[in-house]
Amino acid sequence: MPAEFHTALRGKSLALIFQKPSNRTRVSFEVGMTQLGGHTIYLGPDDIKLGVREATKDVASVLSRYVDGIVARTYSHKDIIELAKNSTVPVINGLSDLVHPCQAMADVYTIKEKLSAGGGSAMDSVKSGIGGKSNSIKVAFVGDGNNVLHSLLQCCSKVGMSISIATPEGYEPKKEIVKEAMNEAKQNGSIIELSNKVEEAVKGADVIYTDVWTSMGQEKEHKERLKAFRGFQVNKKLVSLAKKNCLIMHCLPAHRGEEITDEVMDGPNSIVLDQAENRLHVQKAILIDLLVPCLE
Ligand code: CP
Ligand code: NVA
Repeated sequence: MPAEFHTALRGKSLALIFQKPSNRTRVSFEVGMTQLGGHTIYLGPDDIKLGVREATKDVASVLSRYVDGIVARTYSHKDIIELAKNSTVPVINGLSDLVHPCQAMADVYTIKEKLSAGGGSAMDSVKSGIGGKSNSIKVAFVGDGNNVLHSLLQCCSKVGMSISIATPEGYEPKKEIVKEAMNEAKQNGSIIELSNKVEEAVKGADVIYTDVWTSMGQEKEHKERLKAFRGFQVNKKLVSLAKKNCLIMHCLPAHRGEEITDEVMDGPNSIVLDQAENRLHVQKAILIDLLVPCLE
């Protein structure tokens, strides 16, 4: 990190409202703030009891009087919107039931770092709306049409990466998000394909991406989902249908043995740890972009 950034956020505080557990998102924001000279305040599920002890809008208004930014991880996306509407400081979505934007920004950065010549810095990437065009790259997403996929669709279509999706019937991504991403992709010269056939999705793919079949908050559906997602596991056989040396991505945490096998996740083409590391670099770029308003 350039020395000029070591004190870029000196004296600034970031509140972390987390209704769900987290390793990567929480730790990368905390470490990122420390490395930039700032400070974080972690507010777990029992600390402010968002919307229970106090209305969400009151939490937003009061925190805005103390801190310079808020990261929120919520069950309902509506809570993020309510915080953003009533806050006078930037509100960063650290995952909701609808989207996981910080994850997808780091993912697209990771794909570009691995597959595009040059790569560029995380800061340049965030400032230019997560970077220039990457038209020749095909990402295959195999699994649930969930928050991670929604954000991946939004980010891939912005940079012109093609994305081919295979989900079981009834677990497709939200129509509005797909429609918006398709329009964006069209303008940026890439293709978005949806099917229920894993073989079709991974054919010719440079990257296979998967995520858990049962997300946080869906634990009651676990058994039913295990049944529905049978055949959607990223294993050696599936990987052999993609391009040779196809990269393997997962936002983590993984449910090893469900959506991905140990062999693939720990194999030579897995970039899951670089992907996790890049959360830190991209998070810092997001923080500087949002909390240092006069930065050119
Ligand atoms: N990928 C991700 O957001 O991980 P955490 O849930 O551990 O933050
Ligand atoms: N889809 C997962 C992502 C975790 C980072 C979840 O929402 O639990």
